[in-house]
Amino acid sequence: MAGNWKMYKTAPETSAFFEKFIPLVSSADHCDIVICPPFVNLCTAVQAVSGSRIEIGGQNLFWAKEGAYTGEVSGPMLAAIGCKWVIIGHSERRQYFGETDETVLKRTQAALEAGLNPIVCVGEKLEEREGGRTEAVLSEQFAGGIAGLTPGQFAKIVIAYEPVWAIGTGKTATPQIAADAHRVIREQVRAKFGGDAASQVRILYGGSVKPENIKGLMAESEIDGVLVGGASLEAASFASIVNCQ
Ligand code: PGA
Repeated sequence: MAGNWKMYKTAPETSAFFEKFIPLVSSADHCDIVICPPFVNLCTAVQAVSGSRIEIGGQNLFWAKEGAYTGEVSGPMLAAIGCKWVIIGHSERRQYFGETDETVLKRTQAALEAGLNPIVCVGEKLEEREGGRTEAVLSEQFAGGIAGLTPGQFAKIVIAYEPVWAIGTGKTATPQIAADAHRVIREQVRAKFGGDAASQVRILYGGSVKPENIKGLMAESEIDGVLVGGASLEAASFASIVNCQ
C-alpha cells in the first residue's frame, strides 16, 4: 500500500501526518506500507517512521550516481538517507517532464543498483482507452521499459497500473477494468520472464483510490495493492485504505 504525496506537504506537515498515521496502522502487518514525500521532506519522513513498519520512498531519481546534473537526485543519495523505495515513470513525469519508456528503464536500473525497490508506473491515457488502444499502449510501455531488465532485476520491481484518466479525476477504474489491465500486464510478464515471475510480481492499481472503493479493488485477486495520491495525504483516510483486508 503506497502513498504518492506528489508536490504536497511541508516538513512540519510531514511530521504532523506521521504522528497521527503511525498509531492508526500499528496492527497492519498484512502489507508493506510505503509513503513517498517530496525530496526535501524525505529525511523528516525517514526519522518519523523509525521503529515502525512504514518505509519511505522517493518520487523519482536520476540515473547517474553523481555529477553535474543541476536539480537532480541520485539513487545512492536516496538510499543513504534511508529510503527503501522509489516511484519511477509516473504519468505526471511522463506528461510534464519528458519521461519516456527508455528513461524509465535507465532510472529503474539505477534504482536497483542503489538497492532501492522501484515502483514502475504504466497506464493509458483517456484517448488511448477510447480508441481501443489500452492493450497496445501497455504492451509498448512494457516492451520499451520493463522488458529491458534482466530476470534478476525484474524480480525486485513492483509495477503500478495507473490509467491516466483515473488519476486525480475522481474517476476510479472499476475493479473489473483494473483487473483486466493487470491481466494484460501479467501476460506480458509471463511472455518475457516466465510463469513464476508473472505470478510473483506485485501489480498495484492507482487512480482515485479512496476508502470508499478500496474494498472492491482489493477483492480482485489480480490487484496486489494500490498506489494512492490524494487520499494518502490525510492520515485517517490512508490508514483506512491500508487497514482494508
Ligand atoms: P490519485 O493519484 O490517487 O490522486 O488519483 C494517484 C497517483 O497519481 O499515483
